[in-house]
Amino acid sequence: MEKILVIDDDKIIRKLFKIALVKAGYIVVEAENGSDGLLQVHSERPDLIITDYQMPGMNGLEVLAEVRKLKFRVPVIMLTGFGDVVLTIKSIQQGAFEFLEKPVKPEVLQSTIRKALLSVSTSKNLTEVVSKNLPTEGMLESNILVGKAQQMKEIFKNIGLISMNKVNVLIQGETGTGKELIARLIHYSGITSDKPLVVVNCSALTETLLESELFGHVKGSFTDSIRDKKGKFELAGDGTIFLDEISEISLNTQVKLLRVIQELEFEKVGGEQPIPMKARIIAATNKNLEELIKQGKFREDLYYRLKVFTINLPSLKERKEDINDLVIHFLHKLNKRFNRNVTKIGDGVIELLQKHDWPGNVRELENAVLQAIIMAKNDVLEKEHIILNDRGGSEDDSEMHVNQLQTLSFVERNHIKRVLDLVRWNKLEASRILDITRPTLNAKIEKYNLAQGPVV
Ligand SMILES: Nc1ncnc2c1ncn2[C@@H]1O[C@H](COP(=O)(O)OP(=O)(O)OP(=O)(O)O)[C@@H](O)[C@H]1O
Ligand SMILES: [Mg+2]
Repeated sequence: MEKILVIDDDKIIRKLFKIALVKAGYIVVEAENGSDGLLQVHSERPDLIITDYQMPGMNGLEVLAEVRKLKFRVPVIMLTGFGDVVLTIKSIQQGAFEFLEKPVKPEVLQSTIRKALLSVSTSKNLTEVVSKNLPTEGMLESNILVGKAQQMKEIFKNIGLISMNKVNVLIQGETGTGKELIARLIHYSGITSDKPLVVVNCSALTETLLESELFGHVKGSFTDSIRDKKGKFELAGDGTIFLDEISEISLNTQVKLLRVIQELEFEKVGGEQPIPMKARIIAATNKNLEELIKQGKFREDLYYRLKVFTINLPSLKERKEDINDLVIHFLHKLNKRFNRNVTKIGDGVIELLQKHDWPGNVRELENAVLQAIIMAKNDVLEKEHIILNDRGGSEDDSEMHVNQLQTLSFVERNHIKRVLDLVRWNKLEASRILDITRPTLNAKIEKYNLAQGPVV
């Protein structure tokens, strides 16, 4: 019979666990704090440890760290009372077998225990990956990822795993689902956290420029190259190179990229000296690469080299339970950025947002919150501040009388003016928010005869 050690400062919880586990055929030993737990680990030699995170004295992570130093391997299941991305990532990084939130469903507990016990015999698993070089808190926390939905929790755990190994990662997901944010989190939460992160948008450049961007060039290798230039691979050093929109690179460049991955070295455009490649590659795409492979537009061998580990991000409509938290998160973030103080959410706002399908995913939601902050006159974000792209036929529209409807250019003019005023006429910022180029913004300023000052 397998022996399970339950460490929790709450007597009632220990008792509940004991009843359930004894009934399931395990021997149970208990400890009411971390240091007592560690003593029991030595004296009782349990096959599995279930520990609470928050306890007086040592917390669960500290218990875990001590357990990992032991010569023998014993899986640890971490329990916590509240969902916390950073804590999830850290627990898994430091070798917890699983991270469960209380209250734990009995069937989840049982199946996790079975898997954990099996893992000892079948795998060398994560316990070796000890946390030297743990992340600098700042970058991790500034790349906050909101998500309580089950799919997101699984992703956080995976980030914990891969951030401690330099495997190549492919992130797939519709536009605006957070691919870049995930890439940053992988980079900043693990062994690369103090190394460079270099981002390349593969769709923004022509083939020749992209190659020189990636690999660098030597002076005179093409018309504009008046001096030697380091490429992104070189700049990334032994950090991370993030290849965004990887589907957009030409077949020629794909061959070159494949060679770099296989041979772990590359040459500058026009150069001969091989330069070693040490960076981890994280690639992202919103296209279906397998489909592109079938169409002959993407190389299968490169695909397999990139997707050593794959993260599939769910669309927002598949995780509408996260909308509430995301809105709160964006209010925080955007209030701070634009010096506003919209701190309350009116009745029905979340319900309205949950009805929408969000084709632009989290980015679209963020923009909707930003628009609403701009429209809000006081500290409450109300339903009427929310502009959704395809609200055709929704109940709110029917409340509006046809005569009240404005022309498109009237709305556009006012909106542009509002945004410009909000960012104190910082045109770069305004064009970013409006998602138009600066020349387009300038053209519209001229067309609508806009100027700094009160709305006319
Ligand atoms: N889970 C999340 N929690 C908080 N913010 C998020 C989350 N997901 C995305 N965001 C925010 O949404 C915006 C879009 O995210 P990001 O740029 O990472 O998406 P993407 O998948 O790379 O989109 P695209 O395919 O269009 O490049 C960013 O401002 C990002 O900070
Ligand atoms: Mg992106």
